Amino acid sequence: MKTIITQLSDDIANSKILIEHHLKTINMEVQHMPKILILYYSQTGNTRLMAEAIQEGVKMVQGIEVEFKDRVAAEELADFNAIVVGAPTYYHDMTRNIKKLFEEAAVKKLSLNGKVGAAFGSYGWSAEAPPLVLEIMNNRFRMDTIEPPLLIKYAPDQAGLQKCRQFGKKIGERLLLPT
Ligand SMILES: Cc1cc2nc3c(=O)[nH]c(=O)nc-3n(C[C@H](O)[C@H](O)[C@H](O)COP(=O)(O)O)c2cc1C
Repeated sequence: MKTIITQLSDDIANSKILIEHHLKTINMEVQHMPKILILYYSQTGNTRLMAEAIQEGVKMVQGIEVEFKDRVAAEELADFNAIVVGAPTYYHDMTRNIKKLFEEAAVKKLSLNGKVGAAFGSYGWSAEAPPLVLEIMNNRFRMDTIEPPLLIKYAPDQAGLQKCRQFGKKIGERLLLPT
């Protein structure tokens, strides 16, 4: 009886060690997974529809972690390997909240150097916002930008949503390329 109990407690102890080892490995893998931020601004929902489809595209790529947000503190940008900004065009410009975020990142001297950057957005007729976002990512923050930006006129239709998924997939795959 005593031997059986000793054997059992040995087995339990060994299982515990094994489980702890697996948990540690999983944890290490999660910590090393590249992280993508999809940050979008949308007043009437069109850029949000694009952002959702881009997220679906990113999720087609295994081994990428994605966060989907409509606001973020500048400091948080440092946590991501790629920053994807959804910017609709209003009055031939990006909206105030996007400018504010970049201003804050610059004032706080955040280093975004070398991070992958991408931009997309819905527009009506001139579509200045996404190229402006890429221009700032490039010139001010020295990010590694994906050109061209993805532009969709007003609400994305099925073909537009498919383009968004492809765009997301492309960004995800880019992060898995050896640097
Ligand atoms: C007040 C106003 C100003 C706009 N200015 C522009 C503009 O300068 N250039 C442009 O391409 N589209 C312009 N648009 C169209 C929007 O970009 C378009 O409606 C877009 O789908 C909005 O995206 P959202 O739904 O994500 O907010 C404007 C729309 C409104 C309501």
